[in-house]
Amino acid sequence: MALNVAPVPSPTAVSRPPYVGGVNIEIVDAALGDKPVLRRLMELYMYDFSELDGRELDQHGLFGYRYLDHYWTAPERHPLLIRCEDRWAGFALVRAGNPSSMAEFFVLRKYRRRGIGREVAQMVFRRFPGRWEVEEVRENPAARRFWQRSIPATFEEVETAEGWKQKFVVESPERC
Ligand SMILES: CC(C)(COP(=O)(O)OP(=O)(O)OC[C@H]1O[C@@H](n2cnc3c(N)ncnc32)[C@H](O)[C@@H]1OP(=O)(O)O)[C@@H](O)C(=O)NCCC(=O)NCCS
Repeated sequence: MALNVAPVPSPTAVSRPPYVGGVNIEIVDAALGDKPVLRRLMELYMYDFSELDGRELDQHGLFGYRYLDHYWTAPERHPLLIRCEDRWAGFALVRAGNPSSMAEFFVLRKYRRRGIGREVAQMVFRRFPGRWEVEEVRENPAARRFWQRSIPATFEEVETAEGWKQKFVVESPERC
């Protein structure tokens, strides 16, 4: 009788999630079924922003994010969810292109200031090598500081009407 034995991966073939700030971090592509999760995390993100820009809730008690659906219909848009220790911990919304841009980026409060945002940002940049731009509004100097510390390359920073923009290039990984 032939035995169907699964091959044992060699230790080097196993890619473990990075361990940063005391937790394992993973980035997952948000499936259509994850849209409600992203919608709820987006509300938390916009609640944080309401402190900076005074945005208001609608009559249903929601901030609402008008581009959310586009992340499952426009091929250049990538909705990514952050998981820490197998729990939802934030998101990154990417518009891939030339340049690519980080449309939105969020780490849940309890996971902040542990290097998790920086690690996740760098994982995302590596996934989309090439020209990049990130932007921050003037009301959010903490985000400017965060991106200045998290961009894994030399960057050019320009002032815009709304705040700041950093431009840089992420090299493709070397092939062996
Ligand atoms: C900005 C944000 C993503 C940072 O995530 P994080 O996981 O806390 O970031 P890290 O711990 O990886 O920080 C890396 C570095 O960025 C800088 N930084 C991060 N948050 C900062 C803050 N609030 N004020 C000043 N500098 C900050 C620090 O230099 C930090 O390194 P240090 O802690 O060793 O000093 C998170 O605070 C967040 O989601 N904020 C609300 C949403 C937002 O502003 N998103 C960015 C939109 S452009």
